[in-house]
Amino acid sequence: MPRADLALVGFGHVGRRFAQLLEQHRELLRRDHQLDVRIIGISTARHGSTFDEAGVDVNGANARRAAGQNLGACGTSLEIIGRLARSDATLRVMVETTTLGMVDGQPAIGHVEAALDGRCHAITANKGPVAFAYRTLNDKACRAGCSFLFEGAVMDGIPIFNLVRETMPAVRVLGFRGIVNTTTQHILAALERGEPFAEALARMQAEGIAEADASLDVEGWDPAAKAAALANVLMDGDVTPHLVERVGLGPSTADAVRAAAAAGRRLRLVASASGRGRNVRAAVRLTEIEPDDILFTLPDTANALVLTTDLLGEIAVCQMAGNLTQTAYGLLSDLVTIARRSAVERRA
Ligand SMILES: NC(=O)c1ccc[n+]([C@@H]2O[C@H](COP(=O)([O-])OP(=O)(O)OC[C@H]3O[C@@H](n4cnc5c(N)ncnc54)[C@H](OP(=O)(O)O)[C@@H]3O)[C@@H](O)[C@H]2O)c1
Repeated sequence: MPRADLALVGFGHVGRRFAQLLEQHRELLRRDHQLDVRIIGISTARHGSTFDEAGVDVNGANARRAAGQNLGACGTSLEIIGRLARSDATLRVMVETTTLGMVDGQPAIGHVEAALDGRCHAITANKGPVAFAYRTLNDKACRAGCSFLFEGAVMDGIPIFNLVRETMPAVRVLGFRGIVNTTTQHILAALERGEPFAEALARMQAEGIAEADASLDVEGWDPAAKAAALANVLMDGDVTPHLVERVGLGPSTADAVRAAAAAGRRLRLVASASGRGRNVRAAVRLTEIEPDDILFTLPDTANALVLTTDLLGEIAVCQMAGNLTQTAYGLLSDLVTIARRSAVERRA
């Protein structure tokens, strides 16, 4: 049976949930996808790293991390990726879940590049690589004969990129608009109910849904990165988050929420894009939503994206409640995609 060796770069909320999901689905991966998976390396920023070519003790690493202890001292993230590249497994996969770097998409871009340079596949829930460097990384992956996948980066594991890539051949996406940031959606709904901003944000932080630096959510950087990622992949755009017209929530937002509600509308943070190729323009705007709009009735932990296409008209994808398991599933689905591609190549 083909073996997949994995290195986890980042072992926070998403990385640890992904590791648990792998343990829970180990037999299913063997039975349904003929894939024997083991994690051989884990690296973090401040909690050390561990490596064992026979497979690391994931439960032990989880317990040490939960207790605030170091995982070990087996090298930097780039060294762990280098050791992954020397594995003799059929598939070598670097799983990137470090924190989003809003200045330039680092350190994640460097991790993806190092993996591809070492002929490892790269999967990530981090928006940085696809929002800042999609074209470059995709070209590099093609040249290396490897996959660069990121289903967990936008709307957690709800299939957006897969939907278009796998099930909508020959369809052109002409634009999109949607609610793609759970933290601000939750805060705006709470303000509408007259609840304090800080308490709503604290709930999202407690659930591990807000970014490590919550200002990335509140100031609209997270939806801007998602808008850039969607525009680059679905519309062949050449956008970075800094080119996305952007607003966030501020001191006057509560008044604006109340004014919209008094007029029978809802104020929501909407990401959108239109155009094609280098003409794609993307934006994140506080928008008053009319009651007959599909975005109006979304629950306060929901996301939704409406794609405008040439052949299928408008398609709406809703995620009723995002959570860490769904993001971790996005990574798992990328792993299965790589296994399927590899099986096809081996048969060819
Ligand atoms: N949380 C969600 O619901 C969610 C949903 C979709 C996408 N995402 C994305 O997924 C990624 C991870 O999110 P998270 O919630 O898991 O974040 P997190 O809990 O803050 O964990 C981030 C992990 O990355 C590690 N790290 C940071 N810089 C590193 C570096 N240079 N080398 C190696 N490791 C490094 C951290 O190390 P330490 O442990 O030492 O700090 C930590 O283990 C982010 O990019 C986020 O935007 C998150």
